[in-house]
Amino acid sequence: MPKPDLESAYSLKSADETRRFYADWADSYDTEFVAGNDYIQPRNLAACFAEAGGSGPVLDFGAGTGAMGVELARLGIGPVDALDLSPEMLAAAGRKGVYRDLIAGNILDGLDLPPDSYAGAVSAGTFTLGHVGPEGIPPLLRIMQPGGLVGLAINPTHYETEGFGAAFDRLSSEITDLSLTKIRYYGPRASGAHKDDVGFAALFRKR
Ligand SMILES: C[S@@+](CC[C@H](N)C(=O)[O-])C[C@H]1O[C@@H](n2cnc3c(N)ncnc32)[C@H](O)[C@@H]1O
Repeated sequence: MPKPDLESAYSLKSADETRRFYADWADSYDTEFVAGNDYIQPRNLAACFAEAGGSGPVLDFGAGTGAMGVELARLGIGPVDALDLSPEMLAAAGRKGVYRDLIAGNILDGLDLPPDSYAGAVSAGTFTLGHVGPEGIPPLLRIMQPGGLVGLAINPTHYETEGFGAAFDRLSSEITDLSLTKIRYYGPRASGAHKDDVGFAALFRKR
């Protein structure tokens, strides 16, 4: 198993590999990655979601150790459920004390939840290289309420190579109010090759 860092995460190839990779990273993710890189993508996505009128109940998809849940709680948005492939990452998210439910599962396998479960869905750091492509959007839409707001951070290279633009076109009868804005991933204390990385905050509503 490669050393857990951003470059290795971007090269993951399967759900099993992803599960093993994040089992290894769960204990040090908050100190090494979030604090060490001044990782602010969740904060910036949460701000976009709040500004667009996002409200609970919210599903945080690919919640990891819960950085997004902390930001939503700070903004007074809840309740929030965490979904993640990795039980170890999810356990760390649970220790933040900001989530209503912790759901272990692969979004791509579908979720055993009723169609109208959520008024909102958010995802930071998961629609990215080596992770989930546009095929992750229909399973999210299935469990959203009509009019519900989705906010996804999407890596711009991944956006192009995985064809998110064409996927949004194909979903045009199911979604509305699509907007793409740019958000910074890392704050002023970041250093190294990725310190200036910027990605999309894609916001849209289920029709
Ligand atoms: C880079 S971490 C991001 C975690 C957190 N959202 C953040 O911004 O710090 C990506 C997370 O997505 C999860 N993940 C990847 N593929 C998934 C899938 N198909 N279904 C559910 N979770 C997935 C991983 O287990 C991992 O915890």
